[in-house]
Amino acid sequence: LQISQKTALITGAGRRIGHAVAKALHDKGFDIALHYLSSAKEIRHECDRMNEVRPDSAKIFQADLVDKDALKALSQHVLAWRPNLGVLINNAACFKPDDDVIGDSLFHTNVRAPYLLSHLMQTALSEQKGCIINLADVHGEIPLKGYDLYCMSKAALLMQTKSLARTFAPDIRVNSILTGPILWPEGESTLSEREKKEVLASTLLNQLGGTDAIIKAVLYLIDNDFVTGSKCVVDGGVSC
Ligand SMILES: NC(=O)c1ccc[n+]([C@@H]2O[C@H](COP(=O)([O-])OP(=O)(O)OC[C@H]3O[C@@H](n4cnc5c(N)ncnc54)[C@H](OP(=O)(O)O)[C@@H]3O)[C@@H](O)[C@H]2O)c1
Repeated sequence: LQISQKTALITGAGRRIGHAVAKALHDKGFDIALHYLSSAKEIRHECDRMNEVRPDSAKIFQADLVDKDALKALSQHVLAWRPNLGVLINNAACFKPDDDVIGDSLFHTNVRAPYLLSHLMQTALSEQKGCIINLADVHGEIPLKGYDLYCMSKAALLMQTKSLARTFAPDIRVNSILTGPILWPEGESTLSEREKKEVLASTLLNQLGGTDAIIKAVLYLIDNDFVTGSKCVVDGGVSC
């Protein structure tokens, strides 16, 4: 990989896509700042595993991304551990159906947190000629019924990517991944079998992407130093 300082902060690294990306970057020799909110058990286990492979190559950091002060503390603690941060991956997100009550926290998690964290890490990332990768969603461009707030937040993240690419140029590259169906949603967004069939049919490839599809995009965006302000489309053809 092109980047000289192989240290990455990944938000929401305890489970699912964030966890898979963290593991893949660690395998490539990165030191990993593993952020989480509630997946304490999973992330401790992964952190221990990484440190067994290479001592002091991983550290866990808890923060509620809705909380501005917690974001500030997160950036301070990560930079105290590794001042030479090269990669920030804004992966954590809130994916929930529309509900007035969650509106604020959803926007704070999906839009404000990546924005503030990008700014809080700006000096460190600039020094390393580093990069920021935002996990966006095809539903930032194509509405998903019942998830208006989520779709709007991901649309804002796409614009944030382009805006910050300009603001931080030429020192930091900022890109997003326009993600299609990668893993089935969990919790209150769990799909019925009929809904799963509809999702698969919305892709041209009639399948879920799986986390490898995102890992490949992350590695490409880290490695290619002529790509900024772009969206890497990994959606199985949903937006085609
Ligand atoms: N899965 C897909 O197929 C798909 C499709 C399109 C786009 N995406 C995007 O890809 C990214 C990863 O997807 P995913 O399905 O793996 O995500 P996810 O499981 O829905 O959430 C990832 C993590 O975000 C963290 N998180 C949520 N709210 C938080 C908060 N207030 N403060 C701190 N952390 C918080 C959680 O950490 P804890 O577990 O530690 O609480 C969670 O594990 C997301 O940005 C998502 O929008 C995914």
